[in-house]
Amino acid sequence: MVVQMLSAIKFSKKIIPYVKEEKTKVVVAIFFSFVLAGLKGMQAYIVKPIFDHGLSPTSTIEDNVTLVLQLLIIVLVNFPARFFHFYWIRFVVDKATCKIRNQMYKKLQHIPLSFFSESKQGELVSNLLNDTITFSHGFRAVIDLIREPITALVMLSLAFSRDWQLTLVIFAAAPLFIVIFNRSGFLVRNQQQVVQEKIAQMTHVVGEGVVGQKISKSFNLQEYVLDRFKKAQEHFFDAQMKTAKTEEIAHPLVEFVGGLAFSGIILFAHYRIKSGGMTTGDFVSFITAMALFMDPIRKYSQANVKLNQARAAGERIFNLLDEPEEADFGKVEIENLNSEIIINDLTFAYDQNRNVLDKVNLSIKSGDKVAFVGLSGSGKSTLINLLLGLYDISKKKIMIDGNDINDIKKISLRNLFSLVSQDIFLFNDSIKENLSVGRNLSEDEIKNSLEVAHADEFVNRLADGVETNIGDGGLKLSGGQRQRLTIARAFLKQSPILLLDEATSALDNESEKMVQKALDKLSANKTVIAVAHRLSTIQEFDCIYVFDEGEIVESGTHDELLSLKGNYFKLYELSKKVGTNA
Ligand SMILES: Nc1ncnc2c1ncn2[C@@H]1O[C@H](COP(=O)(O)OP(=O)(O)OP(=O)(O)O)[C@@H](O)[C@H]1O
Ligand SMILES: [Mg+2]
Repeated sequence: MVVQMLSAIKFSKKIIPYVKEEKTKVVVAIFFSFVLAGLKGMQAYIVKPIFDHGLSPTSTIEDNVTLVLQLLIIVLVNFPARFFHFYWIRFVVDKATCKIRNQMYKKLQHIPLSFFSESKQGELVSNLLNDTITFSHGFRAVIDLIREPITALVMLSLAFSRDWQLTLVIFAAAPLFIVIFNRSGFLVRNQQQVVQEKIAQMTHVVGEGVVGQKISKSFNLQEYVLDRFKKAQEHFFDAQMKTAKTEEIAHPLVEFVGGLAFSGIILFAHYRIKSGGMTTGDFVSFITAMALFMDPIRKYSQANVKLNQARAAGERIFNLLDEPEEADFGKVEIENLNSEIIINDLTFAYDQNRNVLDKVNLSIKSGDKVAFVGLSGSGKSTLINLLLGLYDISKKKIMIDGNDINDIKKISLRNLFSLVSQDIFLFNDSIKENLSVGRNLSEDEIKNSLEVAHADEFVNRLADGVETNIGDGGLKLSGGQRQRLTIARAFLKQSPILLLDEATSALDNESEKMVQKALDKLSANKTVIAVAHRLSTIQEFDCIYVFDEGEIVESGTHDELLSLKGNYFKLYELSKKVGTNA
């Protein structure tokens, strides 16, 4: 009992910040738990006069009217007491749960990118959706842990007042109940933890199955994907059955012990009534009190299990909430690139084992168009990630207009760049919503952006125009159309620097041409940093940097690099051969 109380207090400390605003409701709800316990006590109490007076052959109609009135008063008071107690508890709990979920979602938006390479998407989703529900049950359990002992105490006092000797007989069985509750509670707790893990894994597999639809179908992987799901579900089922078995053995066991205790009581009561020590009314009132005593005990033990499950869920929730957010110590705000970006001897590794960038030096003047080329895995996208401040780097390695990138506010830094990359991300919403992303843009602005992106033609052909819903990730559009929407979005961002990371590499020749036209329009009057496999698109660029295993091995204009007959020349020959230099 003390242990449970302590763990309830510890748990409550975690939730207090979330229910602070609803103090009054919590206090009133707790107050009503006393009222409810009192009312239950009165119900058990009134059973004696009902049996001894109301139902005796000598009773009058007045006796019965009085009893009925008393009963009516009890149920009348019970109505608002129950409503305000239970409704307000649910209100406070569900509201607090929403707050926690908001906080978790907000956290996910502010955790460094590196966190996501280490976690499973589905587990994060499950963390946010399932764990919060389990956690909210813990909130309610805390209230149960207050309410149920009060009710139990009231019932016990009544039972004692009706017949203390009989009460003691019941208590002979109490240690057995306690052993059963404790043991099964412990087992369920552990097993439930496994169940939650299995749900998280299953959520992950479901996510893969939904997101990976196209690959699943085109590779004929339906069976394989289904097998993965079946396995995940089997593990979940096994874990569930373990909990079910423990619970379903514990319940009849409790009933069995209860039955034994009840048999003892009947025999003893027979002796007590025979000897004139108690009336039938006393006995029925006692039994009612005892029955009503068992209910809070059962609820108390359930609340305890829930509290334990909630603590495990809470641990996962608060672990996430405690994750450090992206470091943002920057104070400087810049709106434009006036002079240049300088990269000084930049070395970077995602993990300690291997440098992905090795002593990179380069500079990009405002208005320049520069390109990064090189074999796959040579570190081009990594450098783009670092420019966007997605990973931490040491001081003075990247300078923008004389400011260390670490000193620039993240929001300001990211406003400098518009990224168009191979990974297209679009919301399942209308075209207009995908372009304005929360801002209030005029029709003309949207129209203009679609023109720049060469997307106006296909959008106009859609029945609902800019209001057309584009499906999950833009599923209802072609690859090139999707990319042109991201270009329109980038245009609307109005940033001075354009980052293009393989923006055309997933497209066929025809779409590529359209997208390239759009990109050329978008690039006008901007500083451009482009990662390109197709070297035809960058021949006019001011400078091309050639990456090889994290190092810049050559740099210069297209013609200068060709005349070197080195890495760039080889890449150029290669791209001509495979025909991507169209
Ligand atoms: N999040 C990450 N965690 C750990 N290693 C990573 C991560 N992202 C990339 N890498 C590694 O860093 C190296 C460089 O990757 P990067 O994406 O910068 O290459 P890239 O030049 O853009 O290649 P591609 O032309 O194929 O896009 C690769 O070896 C890759 O395995
Ligand atoms: Mg890349």
